Amino acid sequence: MNRGPQAAGGGGRLDRFVASLMLGLLILAAGLIVSGLLLHGRYVPTVAGAHSSVAALHEGGLIGWIARFHEWGTALFLLVGGGLIGLIVFTSGYKSPNEWRWWSLVALVAAVFGLQVTGHLLPFDRHGVQTAAIEAGVGGRIPFLGSTIREAMLQGAEVSGSTLEAWYLVHRWLLPLVVVAAVISGIVALARRRETKPMVWIGIAPLVVASIVAVFLPPAFGSAASQADFAAYNALPNWYTWPLHGALKLTERIGPAWSWIGVALVPGLLIGFLAALPWIARKLAPFFIGTIFTLFIGFFATAGVLCAGAIASPFGNQDPVAVPIEEPSGALQPIRVELASEGERIFTREGCSGCHTLDQFTGTGGPNLNREFVKRPNPQWLIRFIKDPSSVRPSSTMPSFPHLSRTDLEALAEYIRKPRP
Ligand code: HEC
Repeated sequence: MNRGPQAAGGGGRLDRFVASLMLGLLILAAGLIVSGLLLHGRYVPTVAGAHSSVAALHEGGLIGWIARFHEWGTALFLLVGGGLIGLIVFTSGYKSPNEWRWWSLVALVAAVFGLQVTGHLLPFDRHGVQTAAIEAGVGGRIPFLGSTIREAMLQGAEVSGSTLEAWYLVHRWLLPLVVVAAVISGIVALARRRETKPMVWIGIAPLVVASIVAVFLPPAFGSAASQADFAAYNALPNWYTWPLHGALKLTERIGPAWSWIGVALVPGLLIGFLAALPWIARKLAPFFIGTIFTLFIGFFATAGVLCAGAIASPFGNQDPVAVPIEEPSGALQPIRVELASEGERIFTREGCSGCHTLDQFTGTGGPNLNREFVKRPNPQWLIRFIKDPSSVRPSSTMPSFPHLSRTDLEALAEYIRKPRP
């Protein structure tokens, strides 16, 4: 097989480099766990206390540095971990006797990604809260399980203190347990291959870099969330969810009900593919494995560049900019009742009802439009938004409906802006 001196499994220089970077990630992961334990006592996971407790952390000298290390260390972990996965895939470094090193790496990167996503809600600033609302809506689009997933993510109909509690529980217990297990198995995997000695200076490099960055780079932290942010959707995607955001919008073009392919199925297949590589490699030549991996990465890169739009600033204030509500020119026309009942039919026909409801209950993939008639009484706004949501709100995760005729759009607008109890 492909086991020349350059193959990462062969005990050569490349293998040593991979082992050193892996050691670096294990040390950084341990640093993240320790800093998390130090922060835990000072963080208040409630709606009233979260933002001010994080603000106080940031103001502290040593503890402020620890908080920044915790945040930037996580980001660095994802960058280095992602890069190492790529390097190993293209050099077949996942093969026996390195399969445990590989599985530890994949589990670590997946868990740290989850920590990054859940950790973003913890400061309870406006961007964090709106992002959680968007992410739960995206979870709600998965067929059959959608409403259960959304419900579990939010612990209710929209973001609340219970959402924060649940995400903190996952952030503090569930994912760290995965990290600890993966770190232990990673250490064992490295230690068992005594012929490959990791280079210490590479091994401590990620920890050192994160520590230095934490001295001067401000964390992402905006103003405290208010009730208005609990069901608002103006947040730009973060850099780490940006490829998923693009994948969502790309597959949405197939049809409004298909975005789960990009945002859940393809990422799930990628993780499954990576986890199964040591077995797949017994059947498939490295060239094909490299090609499949490149196709996955190409998909996310293309989707990101073509469809995802702007990224939220990774540091400083990320407060979302609200979509302006234009005043209608002249007085609003009274509701045309017949057109509104036509709109109700179109609402079902076009699959709007798959994501929205207009009654007391919440939809799954999108917000409840029960109060929309108060919020946006202007039919012109509704027409423009439904036809092409991104033209109004650049980060919108709602599919566009370019094929709808002017009459269809007017009917939908009448239906939505009809007052209800
Ligand atoms: C795949 C899920 C999905 C489908 C299908 C969908 N929407 Fe939406 N919709 C959303 C999401 C998510 C939002 C939240 C706002 C955003 O991301 O821009 C939204 C927001 C809205 C809003 C409120 C905008 C605001 O800020 O006040 C209206 C009105 C709306 N949708 C109407 C419709 C209509 C009409 C249809 C059918 C033609 C439809 N939606 C189909 C997901 C969906």
